[in-house]
Amino acid sequence: MKKRGNFLKSLRFRILIILIILGIVPSVLVTAMVIANYEDQAIDIRVSAVRNQCDILCNLIIKENYLNDSSSQAVNSKLELLSNIYGGRLLLVDRDFRIVKDTYEIDAGKIMLSPEIIRCFKGENDQGYTRKKQMLEIAVPIRSPEVQQLQGAMLVTFSCSEIMATIRELEQKGVMIIAIIVALAIFFGYILSTILVKPFARVTKSIEDLTDGYQTENISVPDYTETVLITDAFNKMVTRMRVLDESRQEFVSNVSHELKTPLTSMKVLADSLVGQSGVPEELYQEFMRDITEEIDRENKIITDLLTLVKMDKKTAELTISHLDINQLLESILKRLRPIADKRSISLILDSFRPVEADVDEIKFTSAISNLVENGIKYNVDEGWVRVSLDADHKYFYVTVADSGLGIPEDSIDRIFERFYRVDKSHSREIGGTGLGLAITRSSITMHHGVIKVFSKEGEGTTFSVRIPLSYIP
Ligand SMILES: Nc1ncnc2c1ncn2[C@@H]1O[C@H](COP(=O)(O)OP(=O)(O)O)[C@@H](O)[C@H]1O
Ligand SMILES: [Mg+2]
Repeated sequence: MKKRGNFLKSLRFRILIILIILGIVPSVLVTAMVIANYEDQAIDIRVSAVRNQCDILCNLIIKENYLNDSSSQAVNSKLELLSNIYGGRLLLVDRDFRIVKDTYEIDAGKIMLSPEIIRCFKGENDQGYTRKKQMLEIAVPIRSPEVQQLQGAMLVTFSCSEIMATIRELEQKGVMIIAIIVALAIFFGYILSTILVKPFARVTKSIEDLTDGYQTENISVPDYTETVLITDAFNKMVTRMRVLDESRQEFVSNVSHELKTPLTSMKVLADSLVGQSGVPEELYQEFMRDITEEIDRENKIITDLLTLVKMDKKTAELTISHLDINQLLESILKRLRPIADKRSISLILDSFRPVEADVDEIKFTSAISNLVENGIKYNVDEGWVRVSLDADHKYFYVTVADSGLGIPEDSIDRIFERFYRVDKSHSREIGGTGLGLAITRSSITMHHGVIKVFSKEGEGTTFSVRIPLSYIP
């Protein structure tokens, strides 16, 4: 719950941020560009208008010879007019940099050596202007048309405050537009994120309901394709977990049952001895023998269980060594021959070629021993068990065939299950725990091998094992 509420890391937050950035960045860029463009153009227009007026005025100044005699009424009134229109100041400078006329009447008669004037006399800066805060300054050369020589210069300073005011207004509007865009981005971002997050929220809720136990069935959120995919995967996982849980429960109950059976027998035997007085010596002996047998059984079950549990662990490791498999099989058969001889069952080994392979000696031996033992146990008297060994360039193959009882068709898929026995009482009689084949299969899978079984009831059974010659962890 807490994790789901972590807004800063949520999908919704990311969608909002992306939309806000997508809204702000372009609008800020566009606004800045529009304003800069407007400023340039407005100032250019203003400067060239002033320049035109000044050019006309300069012609008049030359005509009236105003630089030498500043009494011309026409020029004076024109100067006055211009300075009024543009809200600025006009200075006329003659060839000796002396100020002939100042519309502000401050500096008349002084010498003027400003950089603009000097550049103007040098013939530079013909089109340019200088900007000082809200003022623009241009210098216009005064030339007589006949003589191409400079007679003087006119320095015009005028305000561009209306342009600046317009720009400020534009800036304000820009900020407003950006604010509106951000607000819209947040609004649509919220709606969009709600739409996008909804399927996830639904699925999460369904999963929570399931884990809280309100619901026992599979979850189903058929509203969107994505949720169907997620819920399908989730349901598969849950089903698998249920199967695992069931098999675990079954295993535990099987274990308890199997461990209890010998205990119950022992209890019955012991009770009947305790309950009678003057029990004959032979009966005592017989019961004690039975009790010892039950203890052996109990012991065998526990040993087998421990072996299985050890192999089940993910970390279970094989102690691999490069071994002569022919020899290994021979020693297995040798060890089991006494048991087979008791029922006159012949053990035969067919080695088609010498085989060496990487195996864990103990685990491999126990796997094959189990198969051969089964072949003997579930056989008829005077039957046979035939073990064969063959190999190709990649694998070696061991088959264990017998002439025994065979396995009924409906049991064949289950014989590798823990504690599964076709005929419980018969298996018990001959000392089976039902764990042998489970151990065998675990061991062979650990060697990256496979085991298969073919059987026909009443005719016999063949187990075939295939294991890679070299072990790759
Ligand atoms: N060679 C075989 N012939 C007939 N039945 C077999 C053979 N091997 C195994 N089975 C059947 O499979 C069951 C499981 O075998 P296993 O796991 O070795 O248990 P156990 O031998 O302790 O009974 C046996 O109880 C038996 O019914
Ligand atoms: Mg067995």
